[in-house]
Amino acid sequence: MRVLVTGGAGYIGSVVTEELVRDGHEVVVYDSLYKGHRGAVVAGAEFVEADLMDGERLRRAFREQRTEAVIHMAADSLVGESVTNPSKYYRNNVIAGLALLDAMHDCEVRRLVFSSTAATYGEPEKQPIEESDPTNPTNTYGQTKLAFEHALPWYERAHGIRHASLRYFNAAGATRHCGEMHDPETHLIPIILQAAAGKRDAVEIYGEDYPTRDGTCVRDYIHVVDLARAHILALSILDTHSAVYNLGCGGDGYTVKEVIDATRAVTGREIKVKVGARRPGDPAFLVASSARIKHDLNWSPQFQDLNLIIESAWHWMQSHPDGYAG
Ligand code: UFG
Repeated sequence: MRVLVTGGAGYIGSVVTEELVRDGHEVVVYDSLYKGHRGAVVAGAEFVEADLMDGERLRRAFREQRTEAVIHMAADSLVGESVTNPSKYYRNNVIAGLALLDAMHDCEVRRLVFSSTAATYGEPEKQPIEESDPTNPTNTYGQTKLAFEHALPWYERAHGIRHASLRYFNAAGATRHCGEMHDPETHLIPIILQAAAGKRDAVEIYGEDYPTRDGTCVRDYIHVVDLARAHILALSILDTHSAVYNLGCGGDGYTVKEVIDATRAVTGREIKVKVGARRPGDPAFLVASSARIKHDLNWSPQFQDLNLIIESAWHWMQSHPDGYAG
């Protein structure tokens, strides 16, 4: 299939592109490099450096490639920043998203896979979380992702654009070539690995007074390759219908302290920790039920073992000591 990937030079986008190219799809990476990295553009994909709001360039890319499907991952995704700067998040996650849908309609592109998030659920009432559970985001990031999800059925009704919204839980891990590098880094596993590598003094645990097995927050970590495979499977439903799917490994999830201990075991390094205050807006538990995508698309995570996820991220960090600059 001829696929255009927005945000394809980002962490998850680069791995999705890698998997698409491996499967023989023709891929255009469409990325402004505002957050993405030129070095993350996968060999074998065409690259267009442009903004989603550049409607003319986007339409030209669709027409030149004769695009058949879009995987939309370009977005802002910092929970804390979204709360202090809602305008940025509405502009980049909703308005730019609608500009994409309008361009798709103009160019008769009618398949969309959308990168959504567990943050659409807010403070869940039960675990594991199912797609039919209430969505009550507690931050602007989750709210803007949900706002875009809500636009999709109306575009389907008016213009026939079919869509699969994939609600990611905690993406982690790396491939040989593509890994996680954010500036600033806010995600737990890269932060712990930076401490293991001696690039930071200690890991701060954000609160140990949660009602969990060791007092720290429980999350559902999913390897980025397992996420990527789900995008490719999701493309296959779009000839007939639309859907929303959770993507996590399920089970009991892992606490922050468990992730730190696993990283000590994987790296063999000392990792200092200090306990700080809770981070505002962090739910105690976020664990997915991915039963729907398992049933509908026969998807299942290949990297269920947290140690393997951490190991892949550690290898990537060691082989890319300066990230994509090195
Ligand atoms: N944490 C720490 N110390 C740190 C960083 C994180 O204790 O230095 C804790 C957090 O409090 C949280 C857990 O580690 O309990 C995981 O935090 P991350 O920031 O890695 O991930 P989140 O669960 O906050 O966020 C992820 C995605 C978001 C998405 C959210 C959905 O990164 O984009 O899941 O709930 F919105």
